[in-house]
Amino acid sequence: MDYSVFQCPKKIIYGKDTVNFIGSEAAVFGNKAMIVTGKHSSKKTGALDKVYYSLKDQGIDPVIFNKVESDPSVITVREGVKAGKKEKVDFIVALGGGSAMDAAKAISMAIGNGGDILDYEKVQPKTYGIPIIAVPTTAGTGSEVSKFSIITDTERKIKMLISSNFIIPEVAILDPLLTMMMPPQVTAATGMDAFTHAIEAYISKAAQPMSDTFAIKAIKIISSNISRSVLKGDIEAREKMLLGQMYAGLAFSNASTALVHSMSRPLGAYYKVPHGMANAILLTEVMKFNRASCAERFKVIAEAMGENVEGKSVREASLIAVDTIKSIFLETGLPVSLKEVGVDKDNFRKMAEDAMESKTTALNPRKPTVEQLVEIYEKIY
Ligand SMILES: [Fe+2]
Repeated sequence: MDYSVFQCPKKIIYGKDTVNFIGSEAAVFGNKAMIVTGKHSSKKTGALDKVYYSLKDQGIDPVIFNKVESDPSVITVREGVKAGKKEKVDFIVALGGGSAMDAAKAISMAIGNGGDILDYEKVQPKTYGIPIIAVPTTAGTGSEVSKFSIITDTERKIKMLISSNFIIPEVAILDPLLTMMMPPQVTAATGMDAFTHAIEAYISKAAQPMSDTFAIKAIKIISSNISRSVLKGDIEAREKMLLGQMYAGLAFSNASTALVHSMSRPLGAYYKVPHGMANAILLTEVMKFNRASCAERFKVIAEAMGENVEGKSVREASLIAVDTIKSIFLETGLPVSLKEVGVDKDNFRKMAEDAMESKTTALNPRKPTVEQLVEIYEKIY
């Protein structure tokens, strides 16, 4: 039987100042909340206060768990689970970038299903965790609408990918004003992460009609706004990027990402290269590797990026797509090589082997070998 399934939050709210709706949205979930957030930035930008007092105004008692680091670890998740259980929280508010969201999802899952977070590396949770309301303050991961959580096991130097429809947030609130404080490099890296989500969702073996619709729309929006959002930091471009990255999140949550994400996770686990930056450095070279295996799809990507491919062969149009992806990346001003971000060659084979094991490699349109992955790492070194 050939069929598609599309899953997403029950409610997505998008618009300026919508963060103030959080109290009224949360009231249905109970009266004890845990706000899961990073150590400093949401406090500094005022986002934490907005969320805290909106909850308070509705008679909800919020406790704050502000220990989430960049690339949240198993240890942090365990601490969050302990705090949530001790406080008997009814639901979680995830506030921040991808790290806060990912930690919140893992905490919710372990509270709802019991056991330790490591139990879920290979085994799917059986039921929903406690409800999550996700409020992103960066525009890139799409984690507020996705079924994925990446948790780092620092002992084994592995980024675990947890994938379950039971961790999709119930409500996502996307307030563009919360993303205005993002520094240019974070805007560039998270924007390139979203661009990668959209492209990989579109060429993934699990792509389907509903995810395609969101992927193409995301490619259109992101390709025409990313450089403006970084270089000028203007409100309009950032508003559009928040919408574009959410569409990309809906696409890849239902169609998966592919080889770029498989290869970027080891860069984060071994060298702490920020996720979006690692994807950005890999994107062009991996797309060169993939292009011929789904050239028709690359032609559509070229059109979505505004390229005129009329009269061009599929091959020519697909080559234009790869060139345009590269030029968009170069405009962001992000580092272009692994050397620049402190990676050395010693672990290329080990990283390639890790990438081969990743679930997202199985959904890449072209099946790679370990040697080919080592070659890609070498090309971008
Ligand atoms: Fe990503």
